[in-house]
Amino acid sequence: MKKPLIIGGIVALVVVLAGGGLILANQNDSKSTDSTATTSSDSMSSMKMSDSSSMGTTGDTATSKSIEIKSYAFNPASITVKKGTRVTWTNQDAVKHNVVTDTEGKGPNGELLAKGESFSYTFDEVGTFNYHCTPHPYMKAKVTVTE
Ligand code: CU
Repeated sequence: MKKPLIIGGIVALVVVLAGGGLILANQNDSKSTDSTATTSSDSMSSMKMSDSSSMGTTGDTATSKSIEIKSYAFNPASITVKKGTRVTWTNQDAVKHNVVTDTEGKGPNGELLAKGESFSYTFDEVGTFNYHCTPHPYMKAKVTVTE
């Protein structure tokens, strides 16, 4: 009556061996291949963006200026321009206005302008030119002309 014991022992051995085998298998599987991400520091800093040579025409060489006549006023009422600058006034009011120098014989002397009409005058002399609107003497403004 010793067979059951032997069988039992064999079974136990098999179980132990099987268990060991499983443990070993698990250990082998846990070999994680940690592929570290290769940081590719490929900086694209070689792009040249220092091209700032595009310079527009500066006010230094501007030869024309615009003045608006609106709401019974010259706008801007005071400007400074270089000698030789051509100034154009445009009337935006429904009422007629004009551009007339305060000093007779010196400066602009324009006709009455209807709405949308313009008058131009080129300042070839250095100095201060005060002007007004004949129908509305309180409309005053000036152009200062420099060398
Ligand atoms: Cu006027």
